[in-house]
Amino acid sequence: REAIQPSRTSYHFQAPKNWLNDPNGPMYYKGIYHLFYQHNPYGAVFGKTIVWGHAISYDLINWVHLNNALYPTNAFDAKSCWSGSVTILPGQKPVILYTGLDIKNQQVQNMAMPKNLSDPFLREWKKYSHNPIMMRPDGVNKDDFRDPTTAWQGEDGKWRVLVGSLKSDRGLAVLYRSNDFKKWNMYDHPLYSEANTGIWECPDFYPISTNSREGVETSSRSPQYKYVLKASIKFRDYYTLGTYMPDVEKFTPETGFRNLRLDLRYDYGKFYASKTFFDSAKHRRILWGWINESDSSADDVKKGWSGIQSIPRAIYLSKNGRQLIQWPVEEIERLRRKHVGFKDKKLEGSSLVEIPGITASQADVEISFKLPNLKDAELMDTHSVDPQLLCSKKSAAVSSKVGPFGLLIFATKDLTEHTAVFFRIFRDRNRYVVLMCSDQSRSSLRKGVDKTTYGAFVDKDPRHEAISLRSLIDHSVIESFGGDGRVCITSRVYPTLAIDGEAHVYAFNNGSLDVVVSSLNAYSMNKASFVSNIGS
Ligand code: FRU
Repeated sequence: REAIQPSRTSYHFQAPKNWLNDPNGPMYYKGIYHLFYQHNPYGAVFGKTIVWGHAISYDLINWVHLNNALYPTNAFDAKSCWSGSVTILPGQKPVILYTGLDIKNQQVQNMAMPKNLSDPFLREWKKYSHNPIMMRPDGVNKDDFRDPTTAWQGEDGKWRVLVGSLKSDRGLAVLYRSNDFKKWNMYDHPLYSEANTGIWECPDFYPISTNSREGVETSSRSPQYKYVLKASIKFRDYYTLGTYMPDVEKFTPETGFRNLRLDLRYDYGKFYASKTFFDSAKHRRILWGWINESDSSADDVKKGWSGIQSIPRAIYLSKNGRQLIQWPVEEIERLRRKHVGFKDKKLEGSSLVEIPGITASQADVEISFKLPNLKDAELMDTHSVDPQLLCSKKSAAVSSKVGPFGLLIFATKDLTEHTAVFFRIFRDRNRYVVLMCSDQSRSSLRKGVDKTTYGAFVDKDPRHEAISLRSLIDHSVIESFGGDGRVCITSRVYPTLAIDGEAHVYAFNNGSLDVVVSSLNAYSMNKASFVSNIGS
């Protein structure tokens, strides 16, 4: 494998071959996790015919690939089966709502049910005879009406579902209601809309507990819940917290999307068209997201595949209630093999320490930093700056007093290639601000790959708490969780030299003041198992 395809991942979910994009209809059903996904079965690039790939798992890590679950069969989905979600109806009956590209290339919403509920894998799906069940509203373009959410049921017994759209320059979540899950009526106003965003793809809407990390079922209700509304807009997944009043179908956001100061996103790197589901086995809400390639379509054709799914992330509200926290599901820790670690070690200014003895191209690295007296931290008015631009200007090579410090991943010994994931501390009046960056600019000698730097501010007070970083490293992907899951940054990188045995991982401190690594735990990771049960 390695010799031919150094960029193929080992424990991230991929299609057996060809193109993959959005996660669709994730669910836990009778002891089994299901993942469907947008898939072009005919090539490694996005295509004219998109179907629902399907795989099942007992642990969210090891997967069995099954036959495609949905593919064009009727006028209502003749061109493609685009994204959608699963709702588990009372009586343990899963139902898929999905977007069909119909025979006229219009986007319509359709429904499908398992052919045989006693098949534990739910391999085959039949389409509802009265599809489509939702047609686009007046004033909406035929290309701007898609991606139904998981539906939720109100206390009045009515079902509600959202569909992403765009109308008169406003992105919106169109709301439908139904008594029987078959006949759907558009509500007179959208759940929420915002001007000048472009279309909202793959909306998601769910309650979240304000006093516990446990996830809750999408229809469940309590005065202790806030609501999360997510929209995928131009390759960024924005979310806003808010309150929802079902009797008047009103969602009042706390921040809204694309609010520069409070730019809340699931991930500030490559992560799109994500979707959550409630895992009733472990009472948690789990987030899946599509991680696109950063290389060219020609490269993807050459390697025969494109796109991976993130490691599923448990998601809950931060203690202060201002944002979501994400953490890789605990099952991923079962892949941990060799461990190296230490505690309370000084990392001097301008120094580099190798984390030895693990497979650095396939690893899980957790590191925490304790900081010195911060009074000399660089001054910055952080209100008016874009953190991503700040990360590009102040790359890992630019030294200050406190930082940059972090990890150099996929690094050659001479650092010709490396990806730097790091923090830097600024003083903004009487506050201290933590900036997290992922700098891909020296990740590969290859030309023609996207090496954009990513960055975001971490809502943590560095005077009182250690600043932690966890990076899941898997050949061509780094999923980084900063500040205990407050900021996630995913990047795709394609080292040419720093592969397999030539890949190293270092802790570095390029600031002039010392920092302390309060703890380090690094592990080699096993491969996950991906078995094909296609065609049987
Ligand atoms: C998001 C998206 C969805 C659409 C699907 C098509 O990546 O564009 O809006 O349903 O992909 O594959």
